[in-house]
Amino acid sequence: MNIGIIGAGNAGRTLGSALAKQGYSVMLGSRQPEKLAEWVQIENADNPSIFVGTFSEAAAFGELLIHAITGRKAIEALNLAGETNLDGKVLLDVSLPIDFTEGRMTLFTQTGESLGERIQSAFPGAKVVKVMNHIAAGVMVNPNRVADGDHDLFMCGNDAAAKQAVSTLLTQAFGWKRIYDLGDISAAQATEGLALLASRVASVLGHGMMNFKVSQSTSS
Ligand SMILES: NC(=O)c1ccc[n+]([C@@H]2O[C@H](COP(=O)([O-])OP(=O)(O)OC[C@H]3O[C@@H](n4cnc5c(N)ncnc54)[C@H](OP(=O)(O)O)[C@@H]3O)[C@@H](O)[C@H]2O)c1
Repeated sequence: MNIGIIGAGNAGRTLGSALAKQGYSVMLGSRQPEKLAEWVQIENADNPSIFVGTFSEAAAFGELLIHAITGRKAIEALNLAGETNLDGKVLLDVSLPIDFTEGRMTLFTQTGESLGERIQSAFPGAKVVKVMNHIAAGVMVNPNRVADGDHDLFMCGNDAAAKQAVSTLLTQAFGWKRIYDLGDISAAQATEGLALLASRVASVLGHGMMNFKVSQSTSS
């Protein structure tokens, strides 16, 4: 399957590299694709399956798309990717509406909304699935790095088939074991908020190679 990644920062490159190693053809989109030339050359040394292009070229390339743009510029970048290139496609969204202007991590979204909902509303033809936004990219692609993979993912979106496609991809490509479907895209308010907690916990631990696990009573 061809996967288009809109965003070529740490998250986009980590996801792209890991997906290429699992046999997917990947195109990373950037405003300046040429700046990725050296990285791509190294990544493609054994297996030439990573391509780079503009946001629009990556969005056109992908049968499934990943959105990994800095939160404040998400809508701007997706507009550059082109609405018609997003229409009808799964858009796996790992972005966060984070802000550090107060010297600590806060969310720039208002109470009762989320970046996931803003994206879904701006691009109604895309099937936005919010997932993995609260964990470090290195854990996204290698859950076994933490507690042998015994921890949880939370996913939301309006399209059931899109969530199934994302769940299958994350299970097959990276080995995720449990993915909780929290319902429609409004649950992104919760998953994006979880990043605030994860950030605080990571500060206490001194590293971000962590995640949360749901524990429940065996009798209800
Ligand atoms: N890194 C992680 O471990 C991690 C974990 C969880 C969630 N996330 C979320 O994933 C997203 C990506 O994070 P990141 O760490 O990979 O990198 P980032 O620095 O947050 O974002 C990098 C991407 O944003 C694009 N961008 C920056 N300014 C732009 C503008 N004015 N217009 C259009 N595009 C612009 C860059 O485009 P160019 O390539 O053209 O410069 C680049 O592709 C963020 O929302 C972040 O909160 C990241």
